[in-house]
Amino acid sequence: MEQITVKLPHKEYNIYIKKGLLNILPETIKENFNFSKLVIITDDNVKSLYGDKLVKSFVDIGINTFCISVLPGEVSKSISVAEKIYKDLLKYKINKGDLVIALGGGVVGDLTGFVCATFLRGIPFIQIPTTILSQVDSSVGGKTAVNLEEGKNLVGAFYHPEAVFIDPDVLETLEEKYISDGMAEVIKYGCISDNKLFEILYEAGDYNNLRNRINEIIYRCIDIKREIVEQDEKESGIRMLLNFGHTIGHAIEKYYNYNKYTHGQAVAIGMYYITESSERLGKTKKNTSQKVKEVIQMYKLPCKIEKINKDKIIDTIKLDKKTRGNKINIILIKEIGESLIETIDMLDLKKYI
Ligand SMILES: NC(=O)c1ccc[n+]([C@@H]2O[C@H](COP(=O)([O-])OP(=O)(O)OC[C@H]3O[C@@H](n4cnc5c(N)ncnc54)[C@H](O)[C@@H]3O)[C@@H](O)[C@H]2O)c1
Repeated sequence: MEQITVKLPHKEYNIYIKKGLLNILPETIKENFNFSKLVIITDDNVKSLYGDKLVKSFVDIGINTFCISVLPGEVSKSISVAEKIYKDLLKYKINKGDLVIALGGGVVGDLTGFVCATFLRGIPFIQIPTTILSQVDSSVGGKTAVNLEEGKNLVGAFYHPEAVFIDPDVLETLEEKYISDGMAEVIKYGCISDNKLFEILYEAGDYNNLRNRINEIIYRCIDIKREIVEQDEKESGIRMLLNFGHTIGHAIEKYYNYNKYTHGQAVAIGMYYITESSERLGKTKKNTSQKVKEVIQMYKLPCKIEKINKDKIIDTIKLDKKTRGNKINIILIKEIGESLIETIDMLDLKKYI
């Protein structure tokens, strides 16, 4: 079993990666954590695939276990769903001596993290991520949030889990579009900080060929995130590197009302546009954008939008919560595996799209 420890000034927690981990989890959690009751928060898809069995396994070893299931998808990352969960937790008389598990993708992880950060001003929780995106990225680093009608992740908190348990076997049931979505984040990690990871992705050529190396892929991504988060938990500096491709990506998602491009697709487009531009401006080694494009396409992601309206995308970026006055931080790569933060004037943004 692979293990990574995240060490923050105020908290330390372990991330475990192992194929088949889900099967031995109830005993492991019972032995290693001190708690009375257990609540598993999941979504309806994951519940029927893994949740029901997991609940039964906990009950079988004598743990008083409750299950709360929400509708799959972004629609559940809302204040109203969070409120409903608070009420269920009260009904089950959950307190700080109990334990919550987030079993699902990034939606369940963000929602559960937010609920646990705020319920009784903080109750302990564990992440069991079940999508690529959540296994390589969102379950680590402590960002939790829900959406408002006006935008995504507008209400949230930094709140870390007690542990993260990753079983790559569950990815076998994931739909192909979510595989591609998660691969956008994997490609991001290669681009910003791990040339070797990028080469592995390049040589594999597609996700099928990557399957037997998935533990290593997850490990590499999380270890990069660990290193960055340990240095800059609250994203005042180096953590911004994780936003490579995301500034343009978020604007694309938002501009198309979140129904034309998925997050991963929008990030892939963002990574390619910014790299093509920075290469043109002489800030990125020649041919880097071509390589980025090839890898993006290998993992069935788009790298361009037809007839992009740059001004509208820029207007949307101006509303991004990461914008500061007339300045914005953009993330560029000098070459594959090396990234930097550049603060530019909003007026210069057009050069990068
Ligand atoms: N907190 C962070 O640092 C962070 C980082 C990146 C993204 N996010 C958030 O993550 C969310 C997206 O997460 P996601 O892409 O995991 O989407 P998701 O949670 O909506 O999961 C995608 C779909 O896959 C299904 N699913 C999950 N696991 C499955 C499995 N093993 N087999 C079959 N189906 C399965 C779900 O039911 C859902 O329908 C967004 O809300 C985004 O804002 C958070």
